[in-house]
Amino acid sequence: MAKKVLVTGGCGFIGVNFVRLVLEAREDWEIVNLDKLTYAGNLRSLDGVADNPRHHFVKGDICDQHLVESLFLEHDIDTVVHFAAESHVDRSITGPADFIRTNIFGTFTLLEAARKHWLDRPRQAGGDECCFLHVSTDEVYGSLGATGYFTELTAYDPRSPYSASKASSDHLVRSYFHTYGLPILITNCSNNYGPFQFPEKLIPLAVNNALQGREVPVYGDGGNVRDWLYVQDHCEAIVRVLEKGVAGESYNIGGHNEKRNLEVAELLCDILDRKAGPLPSGQPRRQLITFVRDRLGHDRRYAIDAGKISSKLGWTPKMTFDVGLEKTVDWYLSNRTWLDAVVNGSYRQYYQQMYANR
Ligand code: NAD
Ligand code: TYD
Repeated sequence: MAKKVLVTGGCGFIGVNFVRLVLEAREDWEIVNLDKLTYAGNLRSLDGVADNPRHHFVKGDICDQHLVESLFLEHDIDTVVHFAAESHVDRSITGPADFIRTNIFGTFTLLEAARKHWLDRPRQAGGDECCFLHVSTDEVYGSLGATGYFTELTAYDPRSPYSASKASSDHLVRSYFHTYGLPILITNCSNNYGPFQFPEKLIPLAVNNALQGREVPVYGDGGNVRDWLYVQDHCEAIVRVLEKGVAGESYNIGGHNEKRNLEVAELLCDILDRKAGPLPSGQPRRQLITFVRDRLGHDRRYAIDAGKISSKLGWTPKMTFDVGLEKTVDWYLSNRTWLDAVVNGSYRQYYQQMYANR
């Protein structure tokens, strides 16, 4: 069915992969891509799709009520896929204010615009089926010990300013369903990896550092576990939830790929040794791995039970971790201009602030 989709944060990592997938796979969907272009948003990630007539980029803030409402009106938006957020846990520890503003107030602003446009007045045109899909994280569920999985019924227990702000936004979104009948969907996914990820997150940071022969920082004892999900699998899951999900419900999305951080760092070093040639020093890149001071409040393990989306909507991830990591490294190696541009300027300051004397 044709859709007019407001994608927020469509110049960030997952958003841009979603925009690319939809433009290719859904010929009758039109996208309005609202992005503030913070440090994490990158117009270069839209190269090759920016001029597609079904894609309209708008630079702006999701907290700007006037702008958001005018976009709903102008484009008669019937679907929201809400990615825009401050997304990095370490930044939320050093500066939580932006997380509260964008993740909570920004989500509220979008919800209000959807409520006004979809429920308070008759719509101008388009299908009757509206939908507000809120993209959230498994981090709202807290931290697991050695066993167990997060299901959609796991109690919320966020433990960082980032996850607390995402949990707050999930609660707000759900409240608009129960209070106003706004047709919402929530997805809670595990750690994504793949093309276009900003090198503040573990995988692209390790790739960038190991490529240049710089130390690969591993927090604490390297034993923290994440459940890695290839970004394209995630974006396909979002399309599935949009098309088949039941309003008011949430769906966990995971990769069935639990790995310890140290193991991830080692795999990446080995792949780079093979693909990028040896370092000038001749040392294997594994020797670059350096244990550094742990993150405050570092969640030990995340693991998703994706049984609901599999049994109810028929989605399972296709990518294996070995192949996904190879593809990811290949992408960074063939997109050195993209990578070199994002690690310039303010990134250097960030790196210095986060990692010097750690
Ligand atoms: P990202 O940090 O790469 O991109 C965020 C995008 O949002 C950027 O383009 C940025 O410019 C934009 N943005 C930030 N503040 C904005 C504002 N006030 N107004 C408009 N645009 C703004 O994030 P990502 O990794 O692509 O994550 C997307 C969503 O998925 C987030 O909501 C995040 O919480 C969630 N999520 C991500 C992961 C992951 O592993 N990356 C895992 C689970 C959930
Ligand atoms: P990250 O990619 O920041 O995602 P999240 O915190 O949302 O899970 O981190 C993934 C894991 O890797 C997490 O346990 C923290 C760890 N980590 C490191 O060990 N070194 C690093 O330089 C970074 C950025 C993360």
